[in-house]
Amino acid sequence: MTVVSKSPQIKICDSSDAAASAVASIFAAAIGQQSQSTDRDLVLGLATGGTPIRVYRKLVEMHDNDRLDFSAVTTFNLDEYVGLPGDHPQSYRYFMQQQLFDHINVDLHRTHVPDGTAADLATAACDYEGRIRQAGGIDLQLLGIGSNGHIAFNEPGSAADSRTRVVDLTSETIEANARFFDSPDQVPRKAITMGIGTILEARQIVLMATGSKKADAVYRALHGPVTTENPASLLRQHSQVVFVLDREAAARLPS
Ligand code: GLP
Repeated sequence: MTVVSKSPQIKICDSSDAAASAVASIFAAAIGQQSQSTDRDLVLGLATGGTPIRVYRKLVEMHDNDRLDFSAVTTFNLDEYVGLPGDHPQSYRYFMQQQLFDHINVDLHRTHVPDGTAADLATAACDYEGRIRQAGGIDLQLLGIGSNGHIAFNEPGSAADSRTRVVDLTSETIEANARFFDSPDQVPRKAITMGIGTILEARQIVLMATGSKKADAVYRALHGPVTTENPASLLRQHSQVVFVLDREAAARLPS
């Protein structure tokens, strides 16, 4: 599928640390603005993986040192492995607790991660969509990118209007994520993930990528065809997207 694109903004930072600071600043600004108003919570879409770890560290520092206030923030994570309970060290719920939630003043009842252990995963996925809607939709969504162009766990071939659902992971993703497990056999084969349609409904999207391993995926997302075969390219259909990159991830982009 090929569709017309709109250009995302691209911000190239000198280092991965500078990229993390740039992303943390975007989030802190939104959180700061929200604390001035009492209408409704700011709804953040959050991501896991190696890339956002430093962003979360910086947000925790801002909470500790500058009183960044998460008390009026609701969060929705992109995805979770099927079969891993929230107290499993490789589950994304556990990751979020360790990296962010345990260190800030967010109300844990307002933090959402899909339930990979639900008896009825299809209903759980549908409920997740409902909770996002009830919260007023996602204001600001953080994304990483897989080397095959996946966003969240939307692998190549995912429909542009896909919603939260159970998906099979590709062997490439299983291999890439095996570094967090003792062996590749332990990586779950399925996940529950927000869909591309869910992600594209966020009001603003920040995709962060660092390191040379992401250079091809970033190039293809921004300059390859806009196609469901490359999920990240579909972000070019959204008018409020910023790619925050370090020099290595931006290496293939035209200067
Ligand atoms: C996983 C996550 C994605 C993430 C990707 C890249 O597959 N489901 O949301 O973007 O990994 O992770 P990393 O930042 O570790 O390269």
